[in-house]
Amino acid sequence: MQILKTSFKAGVFSAVVLAFSAMAMPAHAANEVSISIDAKKAGPVINKNIYGQFAEHLGTGIYEGMWVGPDSPIPNTKGWRNDVIGALKKMHVPLVRWPGGCFADEYHWRDGIGARESRPVKMNTNWGNVEERNAVGTHEFFDLVDLLGADAYVNGNLGSGSAQEMAEWMEYMTGDGKSTLAELRRKNGRDKPFKVAFFAVGNEAWGCGGNMTAEYYTNLYNQTVSFLKAPKPYMPKIIASGGHDDDTTWTDYLSKNIRTRVDGISFHYYTLPTGNWSKKGLAIGFGEDQWISTLKNTLRMDTMIKNNVAKLDKNDPKNKISFDVDEWGTWYDVEPGTNPGFLYQQSSLRDAVVAALNFNIFHSYAGRVRMTNIAQMVNVLQAMILTEKDKMLLTPTYHAFEMYVPFQNATALPLTIANNPEYSFGGTSIPEVSASAARGQDGKLYLSLVNTNPNKDVSIDIDVAGEKLTAAKGRVLTAKTMDAHNTFAQPQAIQPASFNATAKAGKLTVNVPAKAVIVVSLE
Ligand code: AHR
Repeated sequence: MQILKTSFKAGVFSAVVLAFSAMAMPAHAANEVSISIDAKKAGPVINKNIYGQFAEHLGTGIYEGMWVGPDSPIPNTKGWRNDVIGALKKMHVPLVRWPGGCFADEYHWRDGIGARESRPVKMNTNWGNVEERNAVGTHEFFDLVDLLGADAYVNGNLGSGSAQEMAEWMEYMTGDGKSTLAELRRKNGRDKPFKVAFFAVGNEAWGCGGNMTAEYYTNLYNQTVSFLKAPKPYMPKIIASGGHDDDTTWTDYLSKNIRTRVDGISFHYYTLPTGNWSKKGLAIGFGEDQWISTLKNTLRMDTMIKNNVAKLDKNDPKNKISFDVDEWGTWYDVEPGTNPGFLYQQSSLRDAVVAALNFNIFHSYAGRVRMTNIAQMVNVLQAMILTEKDKMLLTPTYHAFEMYVPFQNATALPLTIANNPEYSFGGTSIPEVSASAARGQDGKLYLSLVNTNPNKDVSIDIDVAGEKLTAAKGRVLTAKTMDAHNTFAQPQAIQPASFNATAKAGKLTVNVPAKAVIVVSLE
């Protein structure tokens, strides 16, 4: 019998899981796909920040998509669109990263404070070379996270800024005394310090953030962080900008050589259907070859995290440093007729499957992966929401995030998949089933299931050690076509439907439709 296990792959949990997979396999018929969950062996907490978002000054991601300004005819609160904020609140956004991305290393925070009409106008050289009027600055960003009930993740400028500039921004945001910078913040309308949950020192220092070596970055990081000071209750977690894709050298070097505070090392990986940056592949209207290549490429996240976590487990055995995938998601060729610098793409059922596969991977490393940020929240790359003037639509990715809300701060549980079939097309194969289980904060047992096969349902026996299951209740996201998506004309073409399965003769079997994501509570 073939056994594929999904377990906690960081540090101490692996031993527990290996024992579990050997011991707790219930008896199933030889070819039945089955999932076994051990609800008594609690794993790490799935930090809600794994469901974090990213909003960069890029295209219509912030301006138009979310920020329309207080005088706009589009209903808004303090300039932020009410329709978009309302939808984002329903998906419980825990954390927003801002202002970039590549933009962060050209952003000077003083440009974004004070009277909006007097703020300097710059060109956004990374993204379409359009005017950046700095209408959204520090105070507006904190209005956004306050409206969402989310935490703030601010990305500092190491590339073209300085230690002094970052230290002064930190003082401006968090100072609780009578310093000139804290008083300036008060004059600009905010009495109490802002709560910055995370602060990153630079972004992609190996690329757009300054083309640095890991050694040079680490020296600058140590220097900068020596001067990043805040009153204790307002001191953010500090994130170092790490590596990307198959490269583990940044994680390794940084975790060995950072001598100042470091709470997390970031990592970026984007899913391209073709793996080729000059012809990435289409967001919709693709064939089965690019369905499977996209899913295969996204599953590479597992190995990438595993290899980086192995470096951290060696260099940081006490697990103080989190591995934070603060940019991930699909990156396609832009929609025809749109500004190539705006990274505007449709989002289809395939993107929801990509999101769910990544969630299941992140859960399995929850002991080390404590924050991730999908790129990006609105109108950019794998967005939750697309807007067109005063209209908006929810993407299938939005629905995947919303369906997975019960996993936020849930306790991961070890899970084993037996007889997981391979789904193959054109010489490429991937596992057909991906799954994750957790005990939610409401005490219920939750299970997520993904069927990667676009042509065939899969029937799965579910077993929870020591418990008698009567039913699975929740929702399914699927559609007739692989690229099913919502449009402004048909904004609800694809959305979750309710899903129930009932045990028969003491056995709970769940039939997962082709190309589907399911989240159920087990009862
Ligand atoms: O998310 C778009 C861009 O991708 C970010 O600005 C950059 O960090 C990454 O290369």
